[in-house]
Amino acid sequence: MHIIDIITRKQAGSELSHAEINWLIKEYISGRIPDYQMTALLMAIYFQGMSRRETVDLTLAMIASGSRADLSAIRRPKVDKHSTGGVGDKVSLLVAPIAASLGVAVPMISGRGLGHTGGTLDKLESIPGFTTNLSLDRFAEQIAAVGCALIGQSDEIVPADQKIYALRDVTGTVRSIPLITASILSKKVAEGAESLLLDVKFGRGAVFAEVEGARELAINLVAIGSELGMKVHALLTNMDQPLGCAVGNWLEVRECLDIMAGKPGSDDLRELSMVQAALMLQLAGKYASYTSARQAAEETLSSGRALEKFIEIARLQGANLSVLEKPDLYPQAEHCQTISAMTSGYVQDLNALAIGKAAIYLGAGRLRKEDDIDNTAGLILHKKRGDSVQAGDPIVTLYTSQEANFAESIPLATAAYQLGAQTPRRSPLILSEISEAGEKPWTE
Ligand code: URA
Repeated sequence: MHIIDIITRKQAGSELSHAEINWLIKEYISGRIPDYQMTALLMAIYFQGMSRRETVDLTLAMIASGSRADLSAIRRPKVDKHSTGGVGDKVSLLVAPIAASLGVAVPMISGRGLGHTGGTLDKLESIPGFTTNLSLDRFAEQIAAVGCALIGQSDEIVPADQKIYALRDVTGTVRSIPLITASILSKKVAEGAESLLLDVKFGRGAVFAEVEGARELAINLVAIGSELGMKVHALLTNMDQPLGCAVGNWLEVRECLDIMAGKPGSDDLRELSMVQAALMLQLAGKYASYTSARQAAEETLSSGRALEKFIEIARLQGANLSVLEKPDLYPQAEHCQTISAMTSGYVQDLNALAIGKAAIYLGAGRLRKEDDIDNTAGLILHKKRGDSVQAGDPIVTLYTSQEANFAESIPLATAAYQLGAQTPRRSPLILSEISEAGEKPWTE
């Protein structure tokens, strides 16, 4: 087989065979296919798509590129959640410790920032000492001990996703249903999840701005995830404005620590986290009703047990606990700039894509594969859609270690806000829930 033939066949819209897909992943992992040829193929897949059979084959080949976690000694139901990516989406940091505190096992393999969206791994690694690179033995031991481990793809588990994910991030090939499906589901099958809640986002800050694209992705994920033996539900959720008030790695960890320590936090982040924690517990069969699962999740958060669990997980993964217990000890970004409102009124619109790009230009994400992340970079949104504003009120603060980064990010952050005289119409945060039984509008 030859990679150039495979690229040109896919470019012409042909279906790749099972043997071709397996060969391709093996060759890429062993370094015999270079990144530039893989990029050409990813771009061909981006434009031509893949059949369901090809997507399943790609997912299985990616799983087979490494080992699977052996969680057979763990008796608790194994459940995970995964988001297709958004701006300020830090829900995993809240729901993983909540669910683990309530008797389920959460084996979570997450990803790094992808395109303009943030990644759980980058957020966790902003905590000094926190390692997301555990051996599979330690992964299983930690889940048995405390109910949860938070890791990334590695040489041992889904190495194909680790390499392809990093390449897609910087080659404009993120927005592809088969590539996203194989990327997410390969991680979830390999980690040993039995059930999976997916947060499939639509809106300007999502990978798919239009709800139709997000719905097609959700249906594909549910169908293929079920075919691979997991119980999968997906929520379609709005990502038109950033979730919560912080965007940027440490800033987002800090926002979660504050919520787990008893601060109310922003309504959208809290609500989506509670819904997702409750659905995970229900999917895992731990609670018979959504209402009882949600009540348990709320109590775990308000009692401080979620924070204790997060600190326990972080301790086992090598974190410096002093900044988790006293977040004020974390070093501040060297430079900050606050943008204030020029007029009074209401925030009519807050564009998540513009904020996500501003965060990357501030240093919170990567423009090239080898770029380092600035953990302290990002934005704090003082005002969100629908909030009232007086002229002169601070609306957003930008943080970075490199003052020159303000040149591109300040105009973007300023333009992300639209102020006007009327309160804007509210759009629902959660649109619907999709399972094998079909789609139903979201109501609690
Ligand atoms: N999350 C993933 O793990 N992979 C994608 O491609 C998108 C979101």
